[in-house]
Amino acid sequence: MNESSPRPRAPDGRMKSPTVDAFFEPRTCSVQYVLSDPSSGRCALIDPVLDYDETCGATATISADGLLAFARERGLTIDWILDTHPHADHFSAAGYLREKTGAKTAIGEHVTKVQTLWKAIYNLPDTFRTDGSQWDRLFADGEIFRVGNLDVSVLFSPGHTLASISYVAGDAAFIHDTLLMPDFGTARCDFPGGDAQALWGSIQRILALPDLTRLFCGHDYQPGGRPPAWESTVAEQRASNVHLTQAGDEATFAALRRARDATLPMPKLILHALQVNIAGGRLPASESNGTSYLRLPLNALKR
Ligand SMILES: [Fe+2]
Repeated sequence: MNESSPRPRAPDGRMKSPTVDAFFEPRTCSVQYVLSDPSSGRCALIDPVLDYDETCGATATISADGLLAFARERGLTIDWILDTHPHADHFSAAGYLREKTGAKTAIGEHVTKVQTLWKAIYNLPDTFRTDGSQWDRLFADGEIFRVGNLDVSVLFSPGHTLASISYVAGDAAFIHDTLLMPDFGTARCDFPGGDAQALWGSIQRILALPDLTRLFCGHDYQPGGRPPAWESTVAEQRASNVHLTQAGDEATFAALRRARDATLPMPKLILHALQVNIAGGRLPASESNGTSYLRLPLNALKR
């Protein structure tokens, strides 16, 4: 599923309202994005999904290949493969897409903390590096990089994970698992390293963006069975986000978030996904028989 959202150029020639195309991945309710600059034909892929069927351990590149086909059709050159955080519900396709395109991969610099945390959970060997060197670039809060003629700034936005960042380009912000659609609320904070108070702080940073900023979230769980949606604005979130309207301060929000998280089962792929995603979206190396194996720690995430 794809929805294009082209916007006009600002008078100074700088793209203030970049083109955003969204691709909903229904198996994990994830939203993948292509952020592009028509003036240069350059683009970034944000939160691409590597397909995975846990019932048989099969991976596939249908979603990622769809992004590549889209870029090819539009004549776009892929400069960046960006993740907002190490995902717990799907494999990142960053490793695959880097191999296919040679584009640079990036994530937030605090991914090193997530690597350290999960290296211990998985009891990974000493050779597993926790310095973030699995990505080409680690972004710090406030850092600015370019996609063609677009300036993209990095907003550190932890809470859902220790390392989450948002990407802000003109009037578009990719806010992953912070605020979800207003009728669903906010992202959970109960994974290792999650923190409801930190999420509140991140949400305040996002709500401080201009009212008409287009907010693109990382998932949509289609409450009430409505069609998938992923775009809102700061003004809409302020007015109608079901968690923000119930909780107007940090302590109330954190209590609400923790109470809700206590009712949620762990995502079914969390133990599958993190070991791939802390390695930059790379599957474990093949063993002597040519097969790659995942590790499954028992009783590591007892609630
Ligand atoms: Fe997530």
